[in-house]
Amino acid sequence: MRLYKAKNYEDMSRKAANIISAQVIMKPDCVLGLATGSTPIGTYKQLIEWYNKGDLDFSEVTTVNLDEYKGMPRENSQSYYYFMHTNLFDHVNLQKGRSFLPDGTEPDSEKACSDYNAVIHQVGGIDLQLLGIGRNGHIGFNEPADHFSLETHCVDLTPSTIDANKRFFEKEEDVPRQAYTMGIKTIMQAKRVLLVASGEDKAQALYDSFYGPVTPAVPASILQYHRNVYVVADEAALSKMP
Ligand code: F6R
Repeated sequence: MRLYKAKNYEDMSRKAANIISAQVIMKPDCVLGLATGSTPIGTYKQLIEWYNKGDLDFSEVTTVNLDEYKGMPRENSQSYYYFMHTNLFDHVNLQKGRSFLPDGTEPDSEKACSDYNAVIHQVGGIDLQLLGIGRNGHIGFNEPADHFSLETHCVDLTPSTIDANKRFFEKEEDVPRQAYTMGIKTIMQAKRVLLVASGEDKAQALYDSFYGPVTPAVPASILQYHRNVYVVADEAALSKMP
């Protein structure tokens, strides 16, 4: 694991955007695995800024997102489809039809998951996977469990994740209870993984993931076995690191 210490959220965002830019510049037709949530918003803003300056070109890039709420219409402002469009896709020159997310509108979980596995296979795997981390160590929606789930699957969100995500909804009851997520094997097969973390509430999860035992009870701990992991975290998130 290569650790980049950032002073604060802005610094984390810029450092993470630098790594993504390097990937896009070195391999213009790369496949980027993308994440939603609060943490990568600043990274996406920075990428948009560099795109607007003419320093970045996404015209050959393909993107695959980690996850989507099950049963969520795309036009709902809480869908990850909507999030990606408003925070990145609508502002850069990604080609239409080259950005993929699991289909949250597909009620048949088996179909939604096997379709998404096929998409990831078709695009040839992921060059760089961007990840946030949950307070419970989840990556994507791979929640703490007694085994690692390999490919795209449907998950029941844990109370801790529902609690963390309720800030985006009017009432806690509105938070979807299920999601489709890329599995651990798919994430581990990415050539490079970039994990971003900001804030004190991520400190324990970061410590457990990189200094604790590798266990499905802390899903991100599996990244200890990945050969090319870049962690960009701010001082607060690193406060429990040795
Ligand atoms: C988002 C995702 C989640 C988040 C994690 C952290 O696509 O898969 O694993 O990365 O919940 O979320 P934030 O960044 O909001 O703290």
